[in-house]
Amino acid sequence: MSIADHRTASEMNIRPLHPALGAEVTGLDLARPLAPETFRALHRAWMDYLVLVFPKQALSDEQQIAFARQFGELEVHHQEIIKSRAAPEIFRVANVDDDGNLMRAEDPSVAQISLAQRWHTDSSYRPVPSMGSILHGIEVTREGGETWFTNMYRVHEALGTALRRKIHGRKARHDFAHLTTLAPIKPLTQAERQAMPPVWQPMVRQHPVTGRKSLFISPIYNDAIEGMEDSEAVALIAELAELAGRDEFIYRHRWSPDDIVMWDNRCTMHQVTPYDLGQRRVMHRATIVGDGPVIAG
Ligand code: OGA
Ligand code: MN
Repeated sequence: MSIADHRTASEMNIRPLHPALGAEVTGLDLARPLAPETFRALHRAWMDYLVLVFPKQALSDEQQIAFARQFGELEVHHQEIIKSRAAPEIFRVANVDDDGNLMRAEDPSVAQISLAQRWHTDSSYRPVPSMGSILHGIEVTREGGETWFTNMYRVHEALGTALRRKIHGRKARHDFAHLTTLAPIKPLTQAERQAMPPVWQPMVRQHPVTGRKSLFISPIYNDAIEGMEDSEAVALIAELAELAGRDEFIYRHRWSPDDIVMWDNRCTMHQVTPYDLGQRRVMHRATIVGDGPVIAG
């Protein structure tokens, strides 16, 4: 480790952004590999604050991928329409196509990306859901298009006895194909369906690093709950999502160009606020593969 690396570790500044979650991290250059000591300090901050914001990090896709790989392997999305042509590990959260043209509001890709306006956690439909996501704001909107994050540890703590009893020991179904019932997105191909069959996940999970319990739902993918009628399951997911959306649990991120925002998918949900689709919005996401099957809490 060089002297410069040591200096980097001690120059890391952490400023909490909200009482529930979120911190801004400055003093690091994410374009360069982190020294082990810096990585450990950053990882600890991530576990403590759940969402980290790094302003003014003009990373190339390759640099973003290299930064993300320090935390684990990266997911490659199972659909062609979302992936970047240049780098398969980049998930394009954009209303602009890969050639740089603004897409029409009715474009199925735009409809799919717009489903992120509802609470969810990324890749919860995988047998091993994602550990975390790292999103680079490249072209950001002046108004709207804020990304909101909610602390699912806190939401779990806030559950009343009746709700707690209802979800204890239960599993919810997470199905990628559920998206097709929510918006006019492109019908899934046979291969896309087969790549992501529905999975059942515990509704309360234990975090593999912190040991804390959190509520684990992802309303855009949840279509059923074990041992419950569909209508009751739909109502329960809606009730839980409403609780998760309480002000006290939420950090609202207003984007500036070249913000990098990193969140823990194991204990948060997020959603984007609506924005004028006539404005360009281009964000590149790297998604870290989960560290193991979900541990029931
Ligand atoms: C995501 C996501 C919200 C946004 O990148 O996973 O849901 O701000 N993005 O567009
Ligand atoms: Mn998302």
